[in-house]
Amino acid sequence: MSVQITYHGHACFTIQTATANLLIDPFLTGNAMADVTAAQVKPDYILVTHAHGDHLGDALPIAKRTGATIISNNEIHNYLSKQGAKTHGMHIGGAHVFPFGKVKLTIAHHGSAFPDGTYGGAPCGFLLWLEGKVLYHAGDTALTYDMTLYGAEGIDVAMLPIGDNFTMGPEDAVKAVGFLQPKTVILMHYNTFGVIAQDAQAVAAEIKAKTKAEPVILKPGETLVA
Ligand code: NI
Ligand code: MN
Repeated sequence: MSVQITYHGHACFTIQTATANLLIDPFLTGNAMADVTAAQVKPDYILVTHAHGDHLGDALPIAKRTGATIISNNEIHNYLSKQGAKTHGMHIGGAHVFPFGKVKLTIAHHGSAFPDGTYGGAPCGFLLWLEGKVLYHAGDTALTYDMTLYGAEGIDVAMLPIGDNFTMGPEDAVKAVGFLQPKTVILMHYNTFGVIAQDAQAVAAEIKAKTKAEPVILKPGETLVA
């Protein structure tokens, strides 16, 4: 079985499994990189790494329109369920088996507040076991040695930020690939704003030179089949 991973710019991906459409960090409105609008996506589940506007994005209106379940940390779950969304709260280190596969929340070294200032709990990344594949979406994070633990799961595809300033930059992202040892790494969280502008081709070349992983640069709208 395979999963289709489609990039929508910034940290937003659609992951299509045999039975479910997952949407991660749906920052579409106001994202100049996005190839789809919030009105066009049809997720069954929305996974949110943290409450910052460039990750929470359109999660609430999309969930209300589609009936999708939002999967996130407990604070985001509480905040969004009070506003009428169907939600499933989890927390760092916890895993849950959903009808589509298993989700585990991983450590992300970052912040997490809603655009209105409300505390958004600890930010996270996601380990996903889908269709026999292991995927890792790092969220917004610094390099952390905990990534060696995630790498022990045998990651097929890792989605890693390279933008610097708010997250890991290129040098630490290459080190992260060394810790995670994924078969394939998709670069994300760059070029959306001036302060996170990066030369993705140069980062990909470094990953190819220094690790065994295959770097992939997806343009918004492009899909990797894993
Ligand atoms: Ni953030
Ligand atoms: Mn961000």
